[in-house]
Amino acid sequence: MGRLSGKVAVVTGASSGMGSEIVKLYAKEGASVVAVARRQNRLEELAASLADAEGKVEIFPGDISDKAVNEAMIDFAVEQFGKFDILVNNAGIMDDMAGVDAFSDEKLLKVFSVNVYGPFYATRKAVNTFKEQGNPGAIIHIASEGAYKTCAGAVYCASKAAVVALSRNTAYMYMHDGIRSNCIIAGGFKTEISTSMGMPNMEAYGKLKAVLGTAPEPGEPTEIAKACLFLASDDSAYVNGAELAVDGGWCAS
Ligand SMILES: NC(=O)c1ccc[n+]([C@@H]2O[C@H](COP(=O)([O-])OP(=O)(O)OC[C@H]3O[C@@H](n4cnc5c(N)ncnc54)[C@H](OP(=O)(O)O)[C@@H]3O)[C@@H](O)[C@H]2O)c1
Repeated sequence: MGRLSGKVAVVTGASSGMGSEIVKLYAKEGASVVAVARRQNRLEELAASLADAEGKVEIFPGDISDKAVNEAMIDFAVEQFGKFDILVNNAGIMDDMAGVDAFSDEKLLKVFSVNVYGPFYATRKAVNTFKEQGNPGAIIHIASEGAYKTCAGAVYCASKAAVVALSRNTAYMYMHDGIRSNCIIAGGFKTEISTSMGMPNMEAYGKLKAVLGTAPEPGEPTEIAKACLFLASDDSAYVNGAELAVDGGWCAS
């Protein structure tokens, strides 16, 4: 029996990086998982690679900036597996590192749509589904050191600060409903996230180098998956509203 046997999870951003590692570990630990992202072929490969895992993986291709997708992915989990216990708001994209003098309107809308609006829509649906079911639930947000450090542009850092606030507010509001909400403050990791950046703003990037230079070697995304396992499992039953830094010590600099 795995540590998540009998649980049903929805993981966004499951087609690469941290999200795929979270799906792999959850399925190995017995959870039934709905894997969400836009690239269907990647999701199909992931599900096929987990055919022998204790938990079953179903894919749900979709764009997380769309409110309807956030709602439908949770309904799909209930339809497929009979209930819903765990939401991981992991999907996210970078900005181009620009300061507020030079952010583009397009980046602001795009980054907030994926990094903030998506988690808001998904968290509302998750909380209402947990309450309807009358069972406890766990929500895990993947934020970033960018919520506290100027290690990316104004848009990305502000988007992750919003996620921290969403997580804490949710933790407080529903603590008596058995709903837990926790946040991972991720440092630098070896994933595909830089592909979402586009051409960086070199003037701003030059200023960020001093902050980025204090970071340790980038971590493996499996480290995030292990923290997400803890925050989803009963081992963290009394952990709510927390911000867990998983960053090799960067938070201490
Ligand atoms: N890597 C780091 O150093 C780092 C540091 C701090 C925080 N983080 C955070 O960690 C999280 C995971 O990122 P990662 O590093 O694993 O990056 P990644 O490898 O680029 O993965 C990002 C995932 O998000 C999905 N995604 C992006 N836009 C989406 C959309 N509109 N709809 C649905 N899914 C979407 C991507 O799938 P599709 O393209 O297939 O849709 C992909 O599966 C993000 O929230 C990121 O901000 C990363």
